[in-house]
Amino acid sequence: MAPPRPAPKNAIKPPPHRKRIIVAMTGASGAILGVRVLMALRHLNVETHLIMSKWARHTIDSEVIGWDSTKLHNYAQHVYDIDDMEARIASGSFRVDGMIVVPCSMKTLAAIYNGLCDNVITRAADVCLKERRRLVLVTRETPLSEIHLRNMLGVTRAGAVVFPPCAGVLHRGDFGGRSGE
Ligand SMILES: Cc1cc2nc3c(=O)[nH]c(=O)nc-3n(C[C@H](O)[C@H](O)[C@H](O)COP(=O)(O)O)c2cc1C
Repeated sequence: MAPPRPAPKNAIKPPPHRKRIIVAMTGASGAILGVRVLMALRHLNVETHLIMSKWARHTIDSEVIGWDSTKLHNYAQHVYDIDDMEARIASGSFRVDGMIVVPCSMKTLAAIYNGLCDNVITRAADVCLKERRRLVLVTRETPLSEIHLRNMLGVTRAGAVVFPPCAGVLHRGDFGGRSGE
């Protein structure tokens, strides 16, 4: 069979695929990490879909100087209510390139591992696993109990990437400057 001919130089190229990522924030310390991820994705022109749990909003408002959770809405293309089970990201037919939960509380880790799908964060994570899409969990707790470790092993075996924040600044007892700017 003849090899495929190269496209002519003046051929119209399809527009580059814009990446689409779900960013979920839960109620663990280190809300600044979620803020930074959202800002970095915006800088990279990634289409972001943001969900914040009730306790994520609380930690953003209390931990991140100069930020509140509503201000974060301006940094994502789409923002969902955590209880809106009709949100399109709760369905596998809505294609995304991946999802990151940052920071990820031990409660949400446990819910994902057990397939609870009790809110849009755990449902969207479940969808990523069943559709074999990339799911990254920035799990935040210290020290870790056997339950935490078991849940981390479980989600890893199910296809997620567990990515605890290991920045050197943690040794100072904070997240290295709490301003999101
Ligand atoms: C200020 C604050 C800090 C917290 N830090 C953590 C944490 O680092 N890791 C964790 O697993 N839970 C932490 N928690 C507890 C969670 O917020 C709690 O388990 C909550 O139910 C998590 O719900 P969510 O995963 O739906 O956000 C913290 C709570 C508060 C109020």
